[in-house]
Amino acid sequence: MKFSIKTDPLEKQRSDVLVVGVYESLKVVSDKTLFNTLIINYISSILKRGDMTGKIGSSLILYDAPGTKIPKLLLIGLGKEKELDGKKYHTAIRAMVQTLKKMDVKTVTSYLQIASIKGNHIEWNVEHFINEVMDATYEFNELKTINKKAKKVFEFFVIVDKKNHKMAELSLQKASALSKGIEFTKTLGNLPPNICTPTYLGKKAQELGKEHGIKVDVLDQKQIEKLKMGSFLGVAKGSRQPPKFIVLHHNKGKKNQKPIVLVGKGITFDAGGISIKPAGDMDEMKYDMCGAASVLGTFKTVGLLNLPINVIGIIPTCENLPDGLALKPGDILTSMSGQTIEVLNTDAEGRLILCDALTYAEKFDPAVVIDIATLTGACVIALGHHASGLYSNDDQLAKDLESAGQISMDRAWRMPLWEDYQSQLDSNFADMANIGGRAGGSITAACFLSRFAKKYKWAHLDIAGTAWKSGKAKGATGRPVGLLTQFILNKLH
Ligand code: BES
Ligand code: MN
Ligand code: ZN
Repeated sequence: MKFSIKTDPLEKQRSDVLVVGVYESLKVVSDKTLFNTLIINYISSILKRGDMTGKIGSSLILYDAPGTKIPKLLLIGLGKEKELDGKKYHTAIRAMVQTLKKMDVKTVTSYLQIASIKGNHIEWNVEHFINEVMDATYEFNELKTINKKAKKVFEFFVIVDKKNHKMAELSLQKASALSKGIEFTKTLGNLPPNICTPTYLGKKAQELGKEHGIKVDVLDQKQIEKLKMGSFLGVAKGSRQPPKFIVLHHNKGKKNQKPIVLVGKGITFDAGGISIKPAGDMDEMKYDMCGAASVLGTFKTVGLLNLPINVIGIIPTCENLPDGLALKPGDILTSMSGQTIEVLNTDAEGRLILCDALTYAEKFDPAVVIDIATLTGACVIALGHHASGLYSNDDQLAKDLESAGQISMDRAWRMPLWEDYQSQLDSNFADMANIGGRAGGSITAACFLSRFAKKYKWAHLDIAGTAWKSGKAKGATGRPVGLLTQFILNKLH
């Protein structure tokens, strides 16, 4: 896809199709300086004939409209003018993309983004136009040999008023970097677990480092042993793929500026280990590295934008499989922090690899540490697929993440981390157990992590419900790269 910002009046625009928004009141989303009365009157008269409702996501194709040289006109419904919010705007953009895919067009002139959307400005509209188009046109076909259709590529001309030109150019820059980061995250998630192994993730991180001038270290088994990450290594024992511990350093801020540290769960396949999972949908546990992929995608975006800030990425990555040498229920592990853990269920492995990464994070004297993990099925039960679970030991950090989620439309909902829940992790034989029973399963998982994050401001994002979609539209979503990028951008000013 290609995007460029244009400010010329309609008569001067050339492309295969013109996209214009229409409200349910049958009002045309127009702009006096950009449009002419000829086309507005024409569209209004067509709307009076009743075939286009203007309901959100509805559409109508017309030909040879007056007032423009563009031969095709696609009307897209935006619903009720007063109710147009970010979510509905996204729906309209997706409807546009679905229709464009069926049309014989390559170049597209869009005016959808000039609609006024509750609480947002033109720069937001332009950014989300581009991002939503990129999201809706993403396909993962690399591994198909037959029916591998060439992906349709469009060129979009995004029209804004002259006075908004500069702002819109900045939005375009941000959106293209962000959509590349999101695409990177999606593809890593969608790759099969026989290709996307811990070694593969390490290689991808190193490639990324080279592209953007970021220092990347990939520690191997021996180096991980030296660090005494007994908990992480416990999980890795049941796999023939060697574990990796990836550290990325984007140090482009001031020398004395404390870094933001992002920690991503990188289980490249979670069979549950000896506490093996049932067979149904087990393939989806290839997505158990989506936290790691979101860290890499965020680094891609931050790298492309060359942001003047210090960000560290930490990724513990291994497989969780049953094996003769695998971790067993009852085993007791000694974590890097020295705290001991009784493993009561080997399927609660995410927290076992993250806890050592959280201890490792201390050495960076971080401003904040945020871990991102497909951690619990319980979080999906609590929040469904719309919001990521957010936990934090710091109210300001929680607020900053919530608002970054709102702006990016990649939302998170704060959950409690009360002391009351901690006793569910009591163990008769070690400092703690790795599970806290069925009640509040997402919360007790977060409580477990909190015991390793006492030395700094910390937040945990449980993305089990948001990192990928199941069913017919199965595929990684790229979340929460949008949220994380916005959080980092907000730290710049
Ligand atoms: N990766 C899973 C969590 C998960 C399950 C995410 C299903 C999305 C969909 C995690 O490692 C896990 O297995 N968690 C267990 C914890 C339990 C044993 C305490 C779970 O949620 O069932
Ligand atoms: Mn598991
Ligand atoms: Zn897992």
